[in-house]
Amino acid sequence: MSTERFILKKSHELPTNGKVSWESPSNIALVKYWGKYGEQLPKNPSVSFTLNNCKTTTTLLFEKKNDTTDFSFEVFLEEEKTPSFEPKIRKFFERIQVYLPFLKDFHFVIKTSNSFPHSSGIASSASGMSALACCLMSIEKMIDSSISAEYFQQKASFLARLGSGSAARSIEGGLVVWGEHKNIDHSSNLYGTPYPYQIADVFTTYQDTILLVDKGEKVVSSTVGHNLMHNHPYAENRFQQAHDNLDTLKTIFEEGNLDKFINLVESEALTLHAMMLTSNPYFILMKPNTLHIINKIWSYRKETGSKVCFTLDAGANVHLLYPENEKQQILDFINNQLIAHCQNAQYICDNVGTGAKQLA
Ligand code: DP6
Repeated sequence: MSTERFILKKSHELPTNGKVSWESPSNIALVKYWGKYGEQLPKNPSVSFTLNNCKTTTTLLFEKKNDTTDFSFEVFLEEEKTPSFEPKIRKFFERIQVYLPFLKDFHFVIKTSNSFPHSSGIASSASGMSALACCLMSIEKMIDSSISAEYFQQKASFLARLGSGSAARSIEGGLVVWGEHKNIDHSSNLYGTPYPYQIADVFTTYQDTILLVDKGEKVVSSTVGHNLMHNHPYAENRFQQAHDNLDTLKTIFEEGNLDKFINLVESEALTLHAMMLTSNPYFILMKPNTLHIINKIWSYRKETGSKVCFTLDAGANVHLLYPENEKQQILDFINNQLIAHCQNAQYICDNVGTGAKQLA
């Protein structure tokens, strides 16, 4: 599909100033995106649960300026001016400028805050980039009120992807697919789309409790990480596996088969880390406490028949995924057995959410 249709034509009149505000959630991948090419295109399709509580709120103030030779913006994180964010935003603006030709016409004040603790090891790029993309789309909507709701969502996801790949999956709620898959209608490498097939009720209220094992700086930046898949000896098999897992998930989502879900989700998480273990240079992103937690989950499942499982991102934190009807038992399990393995006994309770929301 062509990217042409996401270019805003220049002829519209611009507002002189204004303010827009959005909140956008993080998401947790079940089939992982790991490996990219070209301009932020995924080497394999992925699917994630959109989260509810882990989110970024962004307010964008904009004012027309006379000098349109360069971008002009300031970034505030939790009310504090944060110049360290500027290079990332500048790079984002450079990438999306062709699709939003008004960017150099305004001075922007970007005010952003996260619901989760800063440097908790939880990636804020998905929620942060998607919130900013939605704000920019609200400006586009002011400039061209004829755009449809569907176009708004798709282009917001398209722009968010250019900021951070996984951010493409944070605009819509529920289960979101990003990356072309031959058996998933409307799936695209360019933007995320709501998972289009039947989903058993159990998955609509799934819980995700994030155990904060290590809050340190990321050992491997996402760009370095994705690049490890170039010339990786197992890359092609891994990409094929992601396609196959999405096929398998179709029946799992439909039937609500939690045993098969657990098997697939944990295998995806371990495969992601196996890719890092077997790349060159190689990395171990799990910590001893990550493994302690995984072993305790496996024992707990064996003893109780619980349907709790884990997934991991490119770090040491563990996401516990479980059905809503186990909420109390799992909280007890965490407080009795897992909290000892969390940094400062910290964890964050989240669940499947409805996607990005406009606040103003
Ligand atoms: C392991 O979206 O952070 O969380 O596109 O370089 O910003 P960039 O990468 P990013 O990668 C996330 C990878 C992952 C798996 C996933 O969310 O699918």
